[in-house]
Formats: sequence, structure tokens, C-alpha cells
Amino acid sequence: MSDEIIHKGLDGVVVDSTRISKVMPEINSLVYFGYPVQELVEHCCFEKIAWLIWHGELPSARDLDAFRTYERTRRGISPTLLEVLRKFPHTAHPMDVLRTAVSFLGMEQAKPERQDAEANMQRSVELLAKIPTIIGAFYRLRKGLEVIPPRDDVGIAENFFHVCFGKVPAPEVVRAFDASLILYAEHGFNASTFTARVVVSSMADLHGGVTAGIASLKGPLHGGANEAVMKMLLEIAEPARARDWMLAALRNHRKVMGFGHRVYKHGDSRVPTMKKYARAMADFTGQAKWLDIADILEATMIEQKGIYPNLDFPSGPAYYMMGIDIDMYTPIFVMARITGWTAHIMEQLANNTLIRPLSNYTGPAQRGVKPLEQR
Ligand code: COA
Repeated sequence: MSDEIIHKGLDGVVVDSTRISKVMPEINSLVYFGYPVQELVEHCCFEKIAWLIWHGELPSARDLDAFRTYERTRRGISPTLLEVLRKFPHTAHPMDVLRTAVSFLGMEQAKPERQDAEANMQRSVELLAKIPTIIGAFYRLRKGLEVIPPRDDVGIAENFFHVCFGKVPAPEVVRAFDASLILYAEHGFNASTFTARVVVSSMADLHGGVTAGIASLKGPLHGGANEAVMKMLLEIAEPARARDWMLAALRNHRKVMGFGHRVYKHGDSRVPTMKKYARAMADFTGQAKWLDIADILEATMIEQKGIYPNLDFPSGPAYYMMGIDIDMYTPIFVMARITGWTAHIMEQLANNTLIRPLSNYTGPAQRGVKPLEQR
């Protein structure tokens, strides 16, 4: 028996310092460079948050103008990448498409040997600009529709709807979507961010770190939960069935998606804000049913287990009410978290130490290899 202390899942382990964000479960708050995220949502657009996450301060009017102009010119993807996207199976999960496409963008880098902060910042902005284009292109290709080139005269949220649907919806919808991007942008050392940091800690490149981050985010215990939440709401279908459904799920020791969190144990600080925007979508579309089901599930879960919903719980139905295909919800998370991942990658590289933990070996004790005839 070994007397090593094992921190399974790195639960409670502080592995490094970061200036980017702080999750404070004790006061139910999340700050990006000191600013509470719920305040940022009310006062900023997602582009300002991208700047904040990369530069540590909110942009001046001039900074924002220059940043917007540049980002909007970087949205196009190469004809080769578009050809590659055309060849993907239409049945592929869009997260797998995005993972492969981001990896492909890495191969298109003109000077891959450059690993300095300036080159990585430029790559980060390029990813922010191109990821919605990739999502929109695949969204349409798999439906047999023509790909729509990105616009250069609208913000990131509006452009997402344009490349997917060919039109920009009402300002209420764009606002709710933009709010979700701000809430999803950054969240400390979560699994995908830590994955990205681990990858680049070996001095691998930024696109490798982001590709791995996307792979990690896809899992239903992480970003994939927003898709699973909506599937669950569709399965329940009616508010009258919600309480019994939840009681049966708990009786069967089923993990209910959209509930629980490794860090927040008394509620996710982002949920009240996202709920507000999900409610706005329900009012706008007249689809209150999904939130009625969600409210009953939440009340029953808190009453029975004291477990609270996380951000994926209100964002899933909000995206559904916006008319977006369910398997696009986690790719939308990528559109936002690309800011946090790349900021963490640059922070890791600015003061790098190879991330290489130890393990407690539980296999056979050392032994000799017997010749074949004696085995
Ligand atoms: N549904 C039902 N029970 C849950 C639960 C959920 N969503 N989340 C946690 N629990 C229960 C566990 O069954 C466990 O109970 P036990 O002590 O009786 O065995 C206890 O709460 C602790 O859960 P655990 O999974 O060990 O906590 P964790 O910190 O490792 O997990 C999550 C955090 C997010 C992985 C977990 O809550 C989960 O799987 N949630 C669903 C997926 C999800 O919404 N992910 C998005 C996260 S932002």
C-alpha cells in the first residue's frame, strides 16, 4: 500500500496562478480581471470582453474600433479549408468538425515556427474571427445548403446568425446570444482550459492547445452538457411530467445534465443572468414551456439533493428558442471560450513550467521476463 495522497480529478488542487478570472463560490461570483461577469454582461458586448480577457483592461473606444475592424477582416476561411469541410460526413458532430478545422488552421499558419506573444495574439484573434465561419459553413453544408460568406459590417453575434441562417434576427435574440458568449468566455482552470495549458506547457503550439481544448469541451460532463440539457427537456416534453421525471432519475442514480459543479456547490454565479436572457427568449418566442419544465426540475433537484443548476441549464433552452440545432450549442461555447483558452495559453507560455504530475503505481511489483517456454 502506498501512502501517497491522491487528488483524484485534481479536486481542490491549486496547480498555478492566473490573473484572468476568479471563481468565488463563497460569494457566488465570477470575475474577469476583477470585473463581476454579471456587470460585464449588462454593460459590454462580447468583443469588449474578448479584449479584456486578452489585455487585462476594458478597451478604449479607439482600441475597440481598431480591434473590431481587424477582427471583421479576418473572418474568411481559405478555399482549401472550405473544400475540407465539404468532404466531412454530414453526420459528424460539429464539435469534431471544429476540432479538425482548428487543427487545419494550424497547418495554414504562414510562420508556424513563430511562438512569440505577438504571433500568438494574432492567431487568437484569427480563431475568434474564423470559428463562427467554420460553424456556419458546416451548419449549411450538412443541410445541402450553399455556404454563406461572413459579413464584415456586423458584430460576432450577428455574424453567427448570418453565416448559419442568412439573416440576423431581432435585437432581443442577438442580445441574449451575445450575453451567453460573455458568460461562456472564461472560467478559471476548468477541464478544457487546463487541457490547453497542459498541451502548450510542452512548448507545443497554440492551435494544438485549442484543438485539445475543443476535444475536452465536447464531453457531457463539461461543455457537452448544454446539448444534453435540451435533449432532456424534449424528452420530458410537458411541465406536468417534470417532477416525476426528476424523482425517477434520482431514484435510478442518474446524473442529471446541467446540474452540479466541481467548484460551485451553492449555485453557479452565471445562472441568474443567463436565466434572465432565457426568459427574454421565452417571452419573445412564446415558448415558455421549456423554462416551466426547467423551473420544476430545478426546484425538485434542490429539494431532493441540494444540487443547483449550472450555466448549461438555462443556455440550452435559450439556444433552442433561438432556433439553433441542438448539436451546435457546444460549438457556440467554443466561439466564446476561444478567448479564455488562448489567454490561458499565452499566460502559461509567458511563465512556463512543463505540467507533469506524478501517479501512484498500482500494477504488479517489479518482476523478471520469463522465456516464452516458461510462461
Ligand atoms: N445529477 C445527479 N447527481 C449529481 C449531479 C447531477 N448532475 N452532480 C453531482 N451529483 C451528485 C453525485 O452523484 C455525487 O453524489 P454521491 O456523493 O451521493 O455519490 C455528488 O453529487 C458529488 O458529485 P461528483 O460527480 O462527485 O462531483 P464532481 O465535482 O466530481 O462533479 C460535475 C461535477 C459537473 C462533473 C457533476 O456535477 C456532473 O456530472 N454534472 C452533470 C454534467 C454537467 O452539467 N456538466 C456541466 C458542468 S458546468
